[in-house]
Amino acid sequence: MHRLTGKVAIVTGSAQGIGAAFAKGLAAEGAKVVVADVGDGTATADEIVRANGAAIYVQTDVSDPAQVRALVAETVERFGGVDILVNNAAVFAKLGAKSFQEISSAEFDQVMAINVRGPFECAKAVAPIMKARGGGKIVNIASSTVFKGVPNLLHYVSSKGAVVAMTRCLARELGDDRINVNAIAPGLTMSDGVLGAPDDFTPEYIQSNMNARALRRKQVPADLVGAMVFLCSSDSDFMTGQTMAVDGGNVMH
Ligand SMILES: NC(=O)c1ccc[n+]([C@@H]2O[C@H](COP(=O)([O-])OP(=O)(O)OC[C@H]3O[C@@H](n4cnc5c(N)ncnc54)[C@H](O)[C@@H]3O)[C@@H](O)[C@H]2O)c1
Repeated sequence: MHRLTGKVAIVTGSAQGIGAAFAKGLAAEGAKVVVADVGDGTATADEIVRANGAAIYVQTDVSDPAQVRALVAETVERFGGVDILVNNAAVFAKLGAKSFQEISSAEFDQVMAINVRGPFECAKAVAPIMKARGGGKIVNIASSTVFKGVPNLLHYVSSKGAVVAMTRCLARELGDDRINVNAIAPGLTMSDGVLGAPDDFTPEYIQSNMNARALRRKQVPADLVGAMVFLCSSDSDFMTGQTMAVDGGNVMH
């Protein structure tokens, strides 16, 4: 049974990695998907179309409010509205592990602009359209690192802590508009970004992360899709402001 037939979803950062898995997973449930990425998202959109789904790619830097407004306008023009926003775009794996003393002010600001202000800009742009349609779903991607205080990635972990807080604030501000706002906190996931940074994500690092899980295996993007579909579907209509850890039982809160 298709749970998202007739729905229109914007998935940011879906050219690759976890975002691409979300885009394909939502399309498989019947949603029309907008692949929004600063990089080339043609391959994700093409794959969805080849599988008889509906998708377009719109190049977007989520930290640029004008580009975000253009993304939403094009989505409305092509697909008639927006029902679902997945705030997945972020900088992560390429940041490299370093002590907080080595993080420059410029790099700190860049991480916040993309990982925190990006979701804010996107939520701000879609909320009036969702409200006019009678409701919607916003799902933010946080990280299990927030609950562990993972060292040597302070700007990233702080940005994801802000995403958890933003999820709660938006849920309270948008409840009367029947817009649900929740978050997923993935564990270390073998995304394209992680696989492309083997100096930081060494086999030993990955193994030690797996050892801390109740379910001791590698996490892959597909592990996150079920939770995403649930949060985008009517099955989660009475749930808002929550952050679901999907990490094989590493953090428990
Ligand atoms: N992989 C993990 O272990 C892990 C764990 C916890 C949380 N997360 C979160 O999951 C999400 C996806 O991570 P991933 O590992 O798949 O990443 P990834 O690096 O594989 O992909 C990220 C995508 O976001 C895009 N992007 C980056 N900056 C952007 C911008 N300014 N505007 C639009 N798009 C932009 C990139 O082009 C890329 O396609 C991120 O929010 C990340 O923080 C990942």
